[in-house]
Amino acid sequence: MKKIYITGAGGMLGKALVPLFRTAYDVRGTDLPEYDITDTAAIREDVGFFSPDIVIHLASMTDVDGCETDPEMARRVNAEGTENVAVACRDCGATMLYLSTGMIYNGQKPGPYIEYDKPDPINVYGRTKYEGEIAVRKHLRSYYIFNTCWIFGGGPEDKKFVAKIIELGREKDRLEIVDDTFGSPTYTVDLSRAIFQFLGEDDFEMKYGRYHCTGRGCVNRLELAREIFSIAGIENCELVPVSSEKFDLPAPRPRIEALSNYSLDLLGLHLMRDWRVALRDYVTSTFI
Ligand SMILES: NC(=O)c1ccc[n+]([C@@H]2O[C@H](COP(=O)([O-])OP(=O)(O)OC[C@H]3O[C@@H](n4cnc5c(N)ncnc54)[C@H](OP(=O)(O)O)[C@@H]3O)[C@@H](O)[C@H]2O)c1
Repeated sequence: MKKIYITGAGGMLGKALVPLFRTAYDVRGTDLPEYDITDTAAIREDVGFFSPDIVIHLASMTDVDGCETDPEMARRVNAEGTENVAVACRDCGATMLYLSTGMIYNGQKPGPYIEYDKPDPINVYGRTKYEGEIAVRKHLRSYYIFNTCWIFGGGPEDKKFVAKIIELGREKDRLEIVDDTFGSPTYTVDLSRAIFQFLGEDDFEMKYGRYHCTGRGCVNRLELAREIFSIAGIENCELVPVSSEKFDLPAPRPRIEALSNYSLDLLGLHLMRDWRVALRDYVTSTFI
């Protein structure tokens, strides 16, 4: 049985990914506080001891505004931590799959980004995730970078956009939502399945490189909120469009971080569903 080491196993994506991989692999999942990827010696020793075939690296500082206000910590975790994991992979001959983001782009493109667009991050989170990508490419030949976007699917513990919108929509009669930032909502279950299928391909070693992997489609936050209301049957709360300039957040957001799964499609691997179909599955199974 092949061995897979997963960092950030206790996070939103890890909670969907780990049980799925346990059905077919010998899995070791680690996370804070016991396993800190910024501890160079400890992470190298732990990965080396397990000696995995593949490392799926999810651990990250994902609070975009937190990264902006503490850039040193963001760099330590997202850039240097990722480099530590890459070096550990190199030392034990493991293939690395690194989860990165659509925030590596500047957001000025009129439509979704493809893998050949030039990275040009505009905030600390995007910059440090991109520095992580550079570190992976510097140390390894056998790597995958999977860029994804607007993940949802935290289940009963969800505190992110979908859960917040449902909670507020049931309490209030009016909500202001921005209509000028666009993304590709991505369900944890679909993304986990896509990575599982991708790594299960017979010739997966032939396909090293960068892949965008998101729910199909591109939507703004307001349209996403409308779809959530419609599925959850929330009718008594008005959704009011506002500009993102109204909220004075520490980190600038790219206007568009939506991604097209161009390279996976070229391989004939149509692994992701339309975001609306996946959202319906999630909302009906978790909130109704
Ligand atoms: N969420 C999104 O919309 C999104 C979009 C694009 C890309 N991604 C990428 O996808 C991956 C998974 O995202 P997610 O939403 O599952 O994130 P998440 O829920 O924030 O999970 C990340 C995990 O990493 C852990 N972690 C943080 N610092 C660490 C350190 N120094 N050492 C070890 N573990 C550490 C976190 O622990 P604590 O909770 O204790 O801090 C958390 O359990 C991340 O790499 C993220 O950058 C996410």
